[in-house]
Amino acid sequence: MLIKGPASTELCDKIADETDEEMVGVRSKVFPDGEVYIKLEGDVEGERCTVVQTTYPNQHLLELYMIQDALKENGAKIIDVVVPYYSYARQDQSFEKGEPISARAFAKRIELQADNFYSIDLHSEKIIDFFSISAENISAMPVLANYSKTKEPDYLISPDEGGIERVKKAADEIGLEWDHLEKKRIDAKTVNIQPKSIDVKGKSVVILDDIISTGGTMKEAAKQLKEEGADEVHAGCTHGLFAENALEKLEEVCDSVFCTDTIEQKSSEVSVAPLIADMIR
Ligand code: R5P
Repeated sequence: MLIKGPASTELCDKIADETDEEMVGVRSKVFPDGEVYIKLEGDVEGERCTVVQTTYPNQHLLELYMIQDALKENGAKIIDVVVPYYSYARQDQSFEKGEPISARAFAKRIELQADNFYSIDLHSEKIIDFFSISAENISAMPVLANYSKTKEPDYLISPDEGGIERVKKAADEIGLEWDHLEKKRIDAKTVNIQPKSIDVKGKSVVILDDIISTGGTMKEAAKQLKEEGADEVHAGCTHGLFAENALEKLEEVCDSVFCTDTIEQKSSEVSVAPLIADMIR
C-alpha cells in the first residue's frame, strides 16, 4: 500500500498511476495551539506500506513520525519510508562545539518505526550511514538531465566542487560536457563565485545543484556565467526550497528555473515519480 503523505500528495498520485499500488490517504490538520494531527484513511493491518513524505517544512517532519506510529499501531507488517526531500541534511556534522548532528538526530527517530529508508539526492552520502536499517539514496540526476535537454544546453555545470559527481552523472546520462565553478561562502546569505576556465561565450548552459535555498549560490553562478558571455543560463535543482523570494531573484538572471517535485510547487516541472515507482517495483 502507498501511504499518501500530506507533503507529497501529487507525487503519490503519480507514483500510484505508475505502480497500480493501492493508496491510503492521510488526513492532517493543525490544532489552534500548533500541534499536528494525522489519521490514516484506510486499513493497513498486515500490509507492506510505503509512506512517501517530504519532511520540509517542519510540520511535515512531525507528520511523518505520526504516520509511522499510526502504521505500527494499526498493524502494518513492513514500513518503507520514502523521504523525497530529507530536511536538515546540510547539518550532517557538528560544525561547532555544542551543535547537534541534526541529520543524524532525525535518522535515529525515523528508524525506530521503519524497516527500510529511501531518499532522493541526499545532500551528503554519509547520511545513509546514520541509519542502522537498510537505507538508499536515489539519484534524480537522470530525470533532471533528460529534462535539461529541452533547454538545448552545450554544457552542464555544477556551481561548486561539492556537486561535481552529481553533474557528471547527469552529463554522462545525456552525453554532454560538464564543468564546475568555484564557490566561497561568505555568510549564510552571501556566496562568491570564482571564475573557472570554461569558455561559455555564446553558449547555452544548465547549472544543476541538489538544493536551491536562498538562491544565493545559483544567482552568483548565473551572473558569473552571463558575465563570461553565456547566451542562455538555466538553473535546475532537485530540491527547490526557494526560501524568501529566491525564485523571483533567480528569474531576474536566469532564462529559466526548474526543480523536481520532491518539494511540490509551481517550478516542479520534473517528476521523481518514475524513480520511486521503480524502487517500489
Ligand atoms: C551546498 O553545498 C548546496 O549544494 C547548495 O549549493 C546550497 O545549499 C544552496 O543554498 P543557497 O541557495 O542558499 O545558496
